[in-house]
Amino acid sequence: MKHDRPIYFDHAATSWPKPPEVLDGMRRFLEEIGANPGRSGHSMSLDAARMVFETREAVAELFGLDDSAQVVFTANATHAFNIALQGMLQQGSHVITTAMEHNSVIRPLRELESRGVIELDIIPCTNTGTVCLDTLDARFRPNTGLVAVQHGSNVTGCVQPIEKIGALCSRRRIPFLVDAAQTAGCLPIDMKAGHIDLLAFTGHKALLGPTGIGGLCIAGSRLPEPLYFGGTGSASEQEKHPLFMPDRLEAGTPNTVGIAGLQAALEHLRRISLAATVEKEQALRSRLVDGLHAIDGVRVYSGELPVVSFTIDGLTPDDIGYVLDRDYGIMSRVGLHCSPLAHRTLGTAPAGTVRFSMGYSNTMDQVDRAVQAVAEIAERSP
Ligand SMILES: Cc1ncc(COP(=O)(O)O)c(C=O)c1O
Repeated sequence: MKHDRPIYFDHAATSWPKPPEVLDGMRRFLEEIGANPGRSGHSMSLDAARMVFETREAVAELFGLDDSAQVVFTANATHAFNIALQGMLQQGSHVITTAMEHNSVIRPLRELESRGVIELDIIPCTNTGTVCLDTLDARFRPNTGLVAVQHGSNVTGCVQPIEKIGALCSRRRIPFLVDAAQTAGCLPIDMKAGHIDLLAFTGHKALLGPTGIGGLCIAGSRLPEPLYFGGTGSASEQEKHPLFMPDRLEAGTPNTVGIAGLQAALEHLRRISLAATVEKEQALRSRLVDGLHAIDGVRVYSGELPVVSFTIDGLTPDDIGYVLDRDYGIMSRVGLHCSPLAHRTLGTAPAGTVRFSMGYSNTMDQVDRAVQAVAEIAERSP
């Protein structure tokens, strides 16, 4: 039965609704500060610069990074990958990645491969989406220049053994790039413990910030070459782009309203605590997975994150998603979720799956209603 308010189960695409603090933080910035940070010397510009600095500090603290100057603000995770991959990889580099990656990693890598810059090695994963450490270990070559691995899957919610992969890379001094798009705000991440050199995150998913803001966190002294060049408000007497961080990798006026929203989102996360978020989302995930498993004709693809895919025998994901929305007011995502390789790994290509992804605002009652809806749809399936 359809209720007045939708059940929003598409948090892995972007979280909704955003906490009121995020809206307030963005409004406050526009109303009370508004100026361009690091450009003009007046007090409003200084206030804007202080807000950007404080947000960098909060991001660094969240991911266990010592120096907040190594936090680069980007538009999203995709932008961060492009900076990392195009800036780190040299002619002839061999790159290892996995058969669970999102197109935001695969496409920039395929582009570099087709330009003849890199040799790309996509390692297979188990049929539940996990990287096999022995397979990875066997692929290192003398010219391996980077390993890029997703922390958590946007298709199944499966989480990779990041710390072990990081240790394999660190032993060989090979930079390790982690896609934290689905795990930032959902799981604890410590760049030091994970031996992570480059961490890409996006602000609008589990961190609960607005769209248009994300970042690249860089540990250590190996820095990407700049991808963009332009005004930074620093070293203005030079015609060449400054090479010190974070200006090296940030050019042009930043998304200050987005950064203000991210700052408020990080404060919100600190207030409610990551541990409480994990506990609540895990309870929702278990209830959903148990409920779906109990329905005849439903196949479930799940892992550790509150991101669960399923199919119903005899129906296409498109049809299921349409009925969920039309008859039950449930917002899901259907198809390949920008991850065709992951679906080949799971055996769900080419149609893909229906994905329910949950977040802080969902309730057990919504999970029960969604399970009931899937049961009714499965019951009617041909
Ligand atoms: C695993 C994963 N990586 C990367 C991205 C890209 O994030 P964004 O679209 O914010 O750049 C997504 C987005 O869905 C994702 O799920």
